[in-house]
Amino acid sequence: MEQLTPTPPAVAEGAPPRPMRGRVSKFVIPEVIFGVGTLAEVGGAVRRVGGQRPLLVSDPGVLAAGWVERAMPYLADVRVECCLWHDLTPNPKDVEVGEAFASYVASGCDALLAIGGGSCIDLAKAVAILSGNGGRILDYEGIDRATSPIPPMVMVPTTGGSGSDVSQFCVVTDTKRHFKATIGGRALIPEISLTDPELLTTMSAELTAYTGIDALSHAIESAVSEACDFLSKGLAIAAIRGIVEHLPVAVEDPLDLGAREGMARASLQAGMAFTNALLGATHAIAHQIGGALDLPHGLLNAILLPHVMRFNAGTHAERYVDVAGALGIATDGLDAATAAERAVDRVEEFSRALGIPSGLHEIGVDPAEFDTFARNALRDAYIATNPRGVSEDDVRRICLAAY
Ligand SMILES: [Fe+2]
Repeated sequence: MEQLTPTPPAVAEGAPPRPMRGRVSKFVIPEVIFGVGTLAEVGGAVRRVGGQRPLLVSDPGVLAAGWVERAMPYLADVRVECCLWHDLTPNPKDVEVGEAFASYVASGCDALLAIGGGSCIDLAKAVAILSGNGGRILDYEGIDRATSPIPPMVMVPTTGGSGSDVSQFCVVTDTKRHFKATIGGRALIPEISLTDPELLTTMSAELTAYTGIDALSHAIESAVSEACDFLSKGLAIAAIRGIVEHLPVAVEDPLDLGAREGMARASLQAGMAFTNALLGATHAIAHQIGGALDLPHGLLNAILLPHVMRFNAGTHAERYVDVAGALGIATDGLDAATAAERAVDRVEEFSRALGIPSGLHEIGVDPAEFDTFARNALRDAYIATNPRGVSEDDVRRICLAAY
């Protein structure tokens, strides 16, 4: 992770004093194309980043929905010839990355194009890392471990939740050690993120709820993160408002294009916030449970989020006042602790109304594994920006409360 306020070099004796340097804000995102009908721009986007023969990463569900077929003429129009790769499962695995990379090399590809959810986008990023750096994908776990240039990437999200299309992270499951490895670095920010909200209309109600709550957890975790600044904060708060307004409608009526557009916008805002402000303990713990049991990422975040909020509010309640306001709570006259408590209650009610299970016991998580989850969560890249310091004991307590 980049140090936000580096130590200045020593000043030579007799030299004029340097001005004091305050906190530095830096903000990076891809070129963003957003709007209904923008899938038509996908060919031009690939061409613009120099791609002529991209590996097109998608999944069986997106293929069946017809979105890859819909994109093909726009690519052919500008003589972009794709090699399709769709042999992946939710939560991309290290072995799948290796297979996709072999296909990338064998097909003579020169760019990555993903049309799919977070798993497709993360797998495409992982292939790009191997293309530029060689080795095995898990060699790059951590921040800025991949140092050589990587091929250009164009990402077309279809789930409106992962934020991976704008982020500097990808998450890959380690199938031997059974946890999710977070790989980060500026090189992983795609060149172009292209969101056509119409592509979200073929998601099931369940997937809409899971990915939507994932976006909510991105927005809330980044809003209270240690690395949050004025650039990320506004986006995170706007994302929370958008999700509260649009997610219940999108779950109720998957074909409501207005709600889909609202959710796509909020997810984009949350993604831009978290790739710069990073996340916290909800994601750090969810990665461990998801890696061990191959459960949906958004579902785990939905169950853990209120418990992590309650834990954090014990020492940093003031960070949840704006979050509470964005969740629709009238915060005037409330002390920070009460505002934070109501924010937690509101998130729990919101999840219940969307049909999210109330505890880890409902989805087959074994408490005997909490020690392993606790040990591994402290290695996750996102634990460092959680507002409250987290110990293994704390993770065990959060898991028990969420059980
Ligand atoms: Fe997430």
